[in-house]
Amino acid sequence: MEYRKLGDSDLEVSAIGFGAWGIGGAPFWKTEGDPASMKALRKAVDAGINFFDTAPVYGFGHSEELLGKALKPVRDRVILASKCGLRWSRKALGAITKNASRASIEEEVEGSLQRLGTDRIDLYQVHWPDVNTPQQETMEALLGLQRKGKIRHFGVSNYSLEQMKDAMQNGRFIALQPEYNLLSRGIEAEVVPWCLENGIGIVAYSSLASGVLTGKYGKATRFTDWRSKGIIGTFQGEAYERNIDKVERLAALAKASGRTAAQVAVNWVLRQPAVATALVGVKNARQIEENLSAVGWAPAPDVDARLNEVFARK
Ligand SMILES: NC(=O)c1ccc[n+]([C@@H]2O[C@H](COP(=O)([O-])OP(=O)(O)OC[C@H]3O[C@@H](n4cnc5c(N)ncnc54)[C@H](OP(=O)(O)O)[C@@H]3O)[C@@H](O)[C@H]2O)c1
Repeated sequence: MEYRKLGDSDLEVSAIGFGAWGIGGAPFWKTEGDPASMKALRKAVDAGINFFDTAPVYGFGHSEELLGKALKPVRDRVILASKCGLRWSRKALGAITKNASRASIEEEVEGSLQRLGTDRIDLYQVHWPDVNTPQQETMEALLGLQRKGKIRHFGVSNYSLEQMKDAMQNGRFIALQPEYNLLSRGIEAEVVPWCLENGIGIVAYSSLASGVLTGKYGKATRFTDWRSKGIIGTFQGEAYERNIDKVERLAALAKASGRTAAQVAVNWVLRQPAVATALVGVKNARQIEENLSAVGWAPAPDVDARLNEVFARK
């Protein structure tokens, strides 16, 4: 495994990060069951993955609980990243609201610490910007948790450039977690240069476009899980079909290079500026095994040029 500094911080994160949304299960994803999820987590640890990303909302606590169980024996060797700012009134997709107020964050962290079975969270991220709470209040709450030792570092996720600038005036955060993959390159124009200038490390999420870049889905696929709800990503309609055309070309390029589409897609994320870790969600140990081979190589220049042409930034 390769390790990289997360921005200017003292955290050294594995190039592949374990994205623990999927293993949280319902109502978002269908899993292969907790034993398969635990096996995937243990496989990740054995392979040197040290960065695990979760959130209270992933399976409404279940993802954090699984991480707590699987990582207990190796707690001091791993970097636990969780989030705050998404609350739910009942366990349903339509019942989730944004709340990054001081009161909410201070309450949420206690639940996360308990489910994760730890006394500190290494990276605590604001899950989504909450436009109803001033950034000053959110950042002050995070600084307060840091002073108490409940979190080591904090970061933001899904923030725009303006929101990051506003937040930074109120508290030095170390990481941004944005969606970033071959099909979603919106951060490249302004956000990435700002992160580089300010020593902010990028934790790229949905490196496989939530499975689409593995090449296993086609135009006829009808998603029935969260991917049918239009929350993030593109999983239906003409835009989805155009993406599948591109993924077919990715699969052909990968095959000609002796790689899988997933490996080439994650490898591409890892070669982009400011990216410290590419989060990849997995359901079982086999998927981890395949994704591990995304690290430590670069495609031939003509293959890379073709990739950038097919997935050109708009
Ligand atoms: N901050 C945020 O708002 C936010 C949003 C989204 C994600 N994230 C983070 O980023 C992580 C990764 O993103 P993601 O879960 O959206 O998806 P992803 O990593 O882009 O894709 C993961 C899915 O692809 C499939 N897959 C993975 N490896 C595979 C392989 N080798 N062969 C075939 N299929 C494979 C698995 O699903 P199936 O087996 O079911 O197909 C897996 O759940 C999340 O777990 C979470 O930690 C954060």
